[in-house]
Amino acid sequence: MAKQPNLMSKKNQIRVNKKKKTDAGLSKSRPKSKTGFRPHKKKTDETAPAKSDGLIRLNKFLANSGVCSRREADVLIESGAVSVNGEIVTRLGTKVKPSDTVFYNGQKLRAEKKVYVLLNKPKDFITTTDDPQKRKTVLDLVRKAGRERIFPVGRLDRNTTGLLLLTNDGELAKKLTHPSHGVKKLYEAHLDKPLTKADMVAISEGVVLDGEKVIPDAIAYAGTGEKKEKVGVELHSGQNRVVKRIFEHFGYKVVKLDRSVFAGLTKKDLPRGKWRFLTEKEVGYLMMGKQ
Ligand code: URA
Repeated sequence: MAKQPNLMSKKNQIRVNKKKKTDAGLSKSRPKSKTGFRPHKKKTDETAPAKSDGLIRLNKFLANSGVCSRREADVLIESGAVSVNGEIVTRLGTKVKPSDTVFYNGQKLRAEKKVYVLLNKPKDFITTTDDPQKRKTVLDLVRKAGRERIFPVGRLDRNTTGLLLLTNDGELAKKLTHPSHGVKKLYEAHLDKPLTKADMVAISEGVVLDGEKVIPDAIAYAGTGEKKEKVGVELHSGQNRVVKRIFEHFGYKVVKLDRSVFAGLTKKDLPRGKWRFLTEKEVGYLMMGKQ
């Protein structure tokens, strides 16, 4: 795993915003949760290919929507607590279409359970759900996460490595990408030449890109600070190619870029090219907007 830039070292650091909020509360400084960063055990039926008729058993629909287990769903169905398209259904084994309206306890249920996948993206994969030119996409790397239609939250350039979140939760994705939420990301940039102290100060004061002043939350030489072409930048801007454009503005080329923190989520125990599901606790933090 690539070393994170040592943004904690006062010597190397220019922190623009003195008050440091912990992102989702899950980066290094937080105690590791017991379930921590272990991928969930996947259930065989979740990863199975969709049945060709597109129908799904009602008990599975209920389980996928997070109401209860499949066995518990059978009890609910038999008790008459579940309706499909306005009709109470009590027959076990009933199948429904994903487009059917299923109500339980006064609530409309969603056919798909929500899925949150954290990928440590390798280079040469593009951040899209579909590429007409048939290049490798990040979705190729997370196929085994299930058959839910997940999509990337924001984007990383083809040659950028590091953390990328994928989900089918549109609401959360919107929240995490909206500039007003200011989700923090930590990047490690390798430049084509050493960054001068004067340019580092200038960057820390902000750069106008697309009419928006982008001010990094912190910028520092990575590690011990000996290699001045390796720089850590903490940002909350979600602009396209923001890191590269910041450095290009000052005459530097970013030759390698890695995102090591996204909204408080780190690459801990997540080797390049691998993914894991977020824990419930992590999803909870993201939803509470603690980033
Ligand atoms: N900034 C960039 O320049 N590229 C990325 O992939 C992400 C942030």
